[in-house]
Amino acid sequence: MTVFRLRVNGEPAEVDTEPDAPLLTVLRNHLGLKAAKFGCGMSLCGACTVWVEGRPTYSCDVPVETLGDHEIRTLESLGTATEPHPLQQAFLDEQAGQCGYCLPGIIMRAAAFLRDHPAPSRAEVARALEPNLCRCGSHQRIIDAVLRAGQEARR
Ligand code: FES
Ligand code: FES
Repeated sequence: MTVFRLRVNGEPAEVDTEPDAPLLTVLRNHLGLKAAKFGCGMSLCGACTVWVEGRPTYSCDVPVETLGDHEIRTLESLGTATEPHPLQQAFLDEQAGQCGYCLPGIIMRAAAFLRDHPAPSRAEVARALEPNLCRCGSHQRIIDAVLRAGQEARR
């Protein structure tokens, strides 16, 4: 076991774990941040997506020893139940969520995408979300929600 000092959601965090422990395991099991989910564990589904240095990243595939002092952000830092992030509010307004399992990862990817592409087309949103799977068929409403959040931010 080794002690790692991380920066998570703007705060320092210390974990004592194996160097090859995935970031997802550290977040969920050591730090109690349960938003990111374990789906496939193979960089295929996106349920575990968080930001590393502002970039959407599959946290199931990042060994903690590679993180150094990179800033990690999870859905917990985006909004709360009482003060949702505009993107979360748009998902509520569009009733875009079905399972809640894939959505933390989708919202983290979509938030980074909107930050970098404030006025995207529908096709661009669809392409940006390709790394994150939704198995229930809510794709169109998820895209609607991302477009809505982008429009609201531009008002
Ligand atoms: S759990 Fe990480 S990509 Fe599926
Ligand atoms: S909303 Fe999660 S699988 Fe579709």
